[in-house]
Amino acid sequence: MKRFRTRAVHVGSRPDPTTGAHVTPVYRTSTFAYGSFDRGARMFAGEEPGYVYTRIGNPTVRVFEEKVASLEGAEDAVAFASGMAAIAGLAFTFLKPGDELVFLGPLYGGTEGLFLETLIRFGISVRDASNAPSSEWIGPETRMLYVETPTNPTLRIHDLAAVGRVARERGVLSVADNTFATPYLTRPLEFGIDMVLHSATKYLGGHGDAIGGVVAGSAEMMEELRMHGLRHVGGAMSPEDAFLFMRGVKTLPLRMEAHCDGAEAVAELLSRHPAVERVHYPGLAQHPGHELAARQMDRFGGMVALELRGGFEAARVFLDGLELFTQAVSLGDVESLATHPASTTHELLPPEVLEHQGVTPGLVRLSVGIEDPRDLAQDIEQALARTERSPVS
Ligand SMILES: Cc1ncc(COP(=O)(O)O)c(C=O)c1O
Repeated sequence: MKRFRTRAVHVGSRPDPTTGAHVTPVYRTSTFAYGSFDRGARMFAGEEPGYVYTRIGNPTVRVFEEKVASLEGAEDAVAFASGMAAIAGLAFTFLKPGDELVFLGPLYGGTEGLFLETLIRFGISVRDASNAPSSEWIGPETRMLYVETPTNPTLRIHDLAAVGRVARERGVLSVADNTFATPYLTRPLEFGIDMVLHSATKYLGGHGDAIGGVVAGSAEMMEELRMHGLRHVGGAMSPEDAFLFMRGVKTLPLRMEAHCDGAEAVAELLSRHPAVERVHYPGLAQHPGHELAARQMDRFGGMVALELRGGFEAARVFLDGLELFTQAVSLGDVESLATHPASTTHELLPPEVLEHQGVTPGLVRLSVGIEDPRDLAQDIEQALARTERSPVS
């Protein structure tokens, strides 16, 4: 098997059979001609492969799916219109009324919303086992164990090998959201996890210009997912977006190295700065998940969170003072982004949930882009200096 960087470029890519176009074109079509009555019948009977309808499969989308499957070490992958569509597709395919879904988070807010506000309406019970010992993860009705690592926004690290082992021993499906790490840094299937998923919107696309999701796993599970979670639920990736994702994945290894370089420089600077109370970056020796992260990640990723000593007001001054970091949600873009969870994404949550998630008033989340780490460090330094000059801090 070829190495990761080579597979990111080549897997799935092949000259277009009709024109020889070197890069797979955008197959912008909703439907595909069978060619003949008999071929149509054979395709519908599953006796002959072929594309039928873009909601179920499309050649441009397929290149992206094949790349992700290869990079995650999976037999197959299924792409969706968004990360949330991928997670909903998983739930509709593999859960039924009476099942329990157990998660180790805190999870991305949208995912917790889907689980705790939407899935429970379908008779699925949901349990947060983030702080429970592994002996308590699985109950009699548990059907799926769902983990996100590193978590959002405080970069908590969960033990993928333990999740994979416990789930297998108890005959439960395990799922890992690998959006923050990407397959370049962590391959959850190597730790015994059954299915891995991404908000492709983030690092896989990498350029902040498309929304998408993808799930990878065994051929059997992906066939079931394509039938129920994609064909029946209908959240299919568009061929145009698939083109951007297949292009994005080709440079994933190069971008991730640059993201990690920048994040390491930023985390190091922050950890020495007097205006900063705490830095959350799994690459720092003082991070509580550092040793675990070193076992399951090749490097520590591009996400860094910091808590400012001056609290809410210092966060405001710091964020308004940043010049290279854009204040916006999302992450994983080549451009650096910054958010203040307490006043934006987590604004509506009650205090006990904020405390559980580690969202303090002075917490800022940085998605470190691929700019020169020296420029990023300078930008952070000058914005921190503003918080020290500000009378409120
Ligand atoms: C870790 C994680 N998973 C899933 C999602 C949902 O993905 P999307 O926004 O593509 O629907 C996000 C979005 O921010 C995320 O950060």
